Amino acid sequence: LVFLYCEMCLLFHINSTVSSRYTTTVITSRVANRMDESKEIEFHVRIPKNAFISKFRMFMDGEVYDGVVKAKEQAQQQYTEAVSRGQSAGIVSSVGRTLEEFKTSVNVAAHKKVTFELTYEELLKRKLGKYELQIHARPMQPVKDFKVDVYIHEEAGINFLEVKGGLSTKALGNAITKTLADKQGWVYFYPTEDQQKTCDSCGEQGMNGDLVIVYDVNRDTTLGDITASAGYFVHHFAPSSLTRIPKNVVFVIDQSSSMSGRKIRQTRIALIHILNDLAEEDFFGLITFDGNIFHWKRELVQADHLNVESAKEFARNIYDRGSTDINIAVLEGVRMLNEHPREGSASILILLTDGDPTSGETNLERIQSNVKKAIASKFPLYCLGFGFDVNFEFLESMSLQNDGVARRIYEDSDADLQLKGFYEEVATPLLTDVTMIYIGGTNLTQTNFSQYYNGSEIVVAGQITDNNIETFTPQVLAISVRNTCSLYVLSRSKGFRKATVLSNIIYDVMTEKYKNDIYKHQLQLSGPEKETVKKEAMELSLKYSFVTPLTSMVVTKPPGERTDVLHKPKEGERLDLHQGYNSFTFFIIV
Ligand SMILES: *[C@@H]1O[C@H](CO)[C@@H](O)[C@H](O)[C@H]1NC(C)=O
Ligand SMILES: *[C@@H]1O[C@H](CO)[C@@H](O)[C@H](O)[C@H]1NC(C)=O
Ligand SMILES: *[C@@H]1O[C@H](CO)[C@@H](O)[C@H](O)[C@H]1NC(C)=O
Repeated sequence: LVFLYCEMCLLFHINSTVSSRYTTTVITSRVANRMDESKEIEFHVRIPKNAFISKFRMFMDGEVYDGVVKAKEQAQQQYTEAVSRGQSAGIVSSVGRTLEEFKTSVNVAAHKKVTFELTYEELLKRKLGKYELQIHARPMQPVKDFKVDVYIHEEAGINFLEVKGGLSTKALGNAITKTLADKQGWVYFYPTEDQQKTCDSCGEQGMNGDLVIVYDVNRDTTLGDITASAGYFVHHFAPSSLTRIPKNVVFVIDQSSSMSGRKIRQTRIALIHILNDLAEEDFFGLITFDGNIFHWKRELVQADHLNVESAKEFARNIYDRGSTDINIAVLEGVRMLNEHPREGSASILILLTDGDPTSGETNLERIQSNVKKAIASKFPLYCLGFGFDVNFEFLESMSLQNDGVARRIYEDSDADLQLKGFYEEVATPLLTDVTMIYIGGTNLTQTNFSQYYNGSEIVVAGQITDNNIETFTPQVLAISVRNTCSLYVLSRSKGFRKATVLSNIIYDVMTEKYKNDIYKHQLQLSGPEKETVKKEAMELSLKYSFVTPLTSMVVTKPPGERTDVLHKPKEGERLDLHQGYNSFTFFIIV
C-alpha cells in the first residue's frame, strides 16, 4: 500500500530554479481517484537531506490546505495525540546517504482529484570544482505527464553544464534537452511513458533514480563575486589560480575489533590510494589504534617514493583487534603535528573511527576538551565516522571545535571511494588563516576559515550598513604559499555585481548560513548560551517557514481527517519504525 502513491497519477512535475547557487524546487503531483468510493491517496517523495522544506499545499475540491511551520514543542501535542489514537503521524525520514523522505496522505472522495505541491530550498555547496543539483524520481509507475524543468541563472556566467545520474542512461538520455547561454542554463527532461521504463534502474514500475545537474561558474577575478540586493550581500570566494601549499597530514586509523571484515579491508584500500596521491613535498604520519597506539613512524616524514612504499606496506598489514581509545590516539596525532615545523605549510589531522571510545578516557566531554587544548586552533581536525555505531554528534562537535568537519562514511561496497573522495576535498590547500573582512558590512555569517582547498568555496553573507554600497569594501586576508600574507581588496569594477537576483534569495542565503552557523555553535555551547542560540535559530526557522530539526510542519486536512505533523530527522540516530520497508530508514524525533 505504501507505494501506491502515484497510481492514477495524472501529472508529476519537478521544477527547479537556481540563482546564485541557491535552489528552489517545486514538486507538483496531481492524482485522480477514479473509484466509486473514497480512497486514501499518498504523496511520497524523496528530497535532498540538506534541503529545507519551506512550503507544502494540497488542493482539493476547490479548497487549499496549507502546511504550517510551528515550533517543535507546539506541534508535539498534535503529534502525540495522533500517535495515541494509533495513527502513524506524518514524518520526514532519512533514506540512505543523501535523501530524505517526505510522506503524507489524504482521503479523496470518489471521482475527485487532489494536487500536492511541495517546495524545498537548498544552497548548493561547491565540492571538487562543481555544484551538483540532485533530483530524485521514483513515481512507481510510468506517468503520462512527467516533466522536470531546471533553470539556472548565474551572473558570473556558467562555465559548464552536465547532466548525470541513473536517469540519464539508456533511452531515457534522449528525453533530456540541455541549453547553455552564458549566464543562463536550462535542462528539460520530458520522458515518454515508454522511455520511463528504460534506464539502468527503471522497469515496468517506471523510473527509479536520480538526475544530477552538474555545473560551475566562471571566476574571472581571484576575489570571487559579490551579489548585493536590498541591503544584503552574498560573497562567493573560490580562487583557483593559486599554488598549492605543501601539507602535513596525519592519519589516525581505528583498528578496533568492530572494524573487522569489509570495513578494515576498505580502509586499507583507501589508505593505499591516498598514500599514492600524496605530493612529494607533503609530509605525513600514520597511526593505528585500538586500546593502544601503533606508529608507522614516530615523526612526520616526507612523502617520497621510499617512505610512501613503506607506509603502504604498513597499511596492508592493518588488522582489527582490541578496544577503542580515541583520546590517546588523537592526542598522539596532535603531538606529531605540533612537533613538525609548520612554516609555509598547512597541517591537517584526519581521524577515522567506527565506534565510541571504550578504553582509556571514555568521557566524551573530557576527550573534546583535551583535544581542543592540544590543537589550540593551530590546524583543523576532520573526523570520519564509519557506519552507524559511531556517536556522530560527538565526532561532529569535536571537528567543529577544531575548524574541521565530520563526515559519515556509509558501510557499502564503495566505502573506500567515499574515504578517498573526502581526502581529495582537502588534498590541495591553497590558503590558510583566511579572514574575510567587510568594511561597511554587519551581521555577518562565519568569516574566519582555517584553510581553503582547491575546488571548494567560501561563502559569506551579511548586511551592508545603511545599504551604502559606496563605503562597502570587502577584503580577504590570507596566507598563501611560501608564507606570504596577502591582502586582497575586491575592486568594484570587477566581480562586484549589483542586484540582479531577487532579494528573497539573498535573505534565504542569509538564513541558510545563519542556520548552519547556529547549529555549529549549538554543539559547542552549553547552558543558557545554548538556549539563546537555539531560540534565535528557531525564530529564523519560523520566520522563513523552514522545517528544521527545531520546527515541524503541521499539515491541516479536510475536517474529520487526522492532522499530519512532519518532523525533520537529525542526522545520526537510527530508529527503525518503518517495518516492512526494504530501504534502510533511520530517524529520530526530537
Ligand atoms: C516551471 O515553472 C515555470 C515558471 O513558473 C513555468 O513556466 C514552467 O511551465 C514550469 N514547468 C513545469 C514542468 O511545471
Ligand atoms: C585546482 O583545480 C583546478 C581544476 O578545478 C585545476 O585546474 C588547478 O590546477 C588546481 N590547482 C592546483 C594548485 O592543484
Ligand atoms: C578572525 O581572525 C582574526 C585574525 O585573523 C582575529 O583577529 C579574529 O579575532 C578572528 N575572529 C574570530 C571570530 O575568531
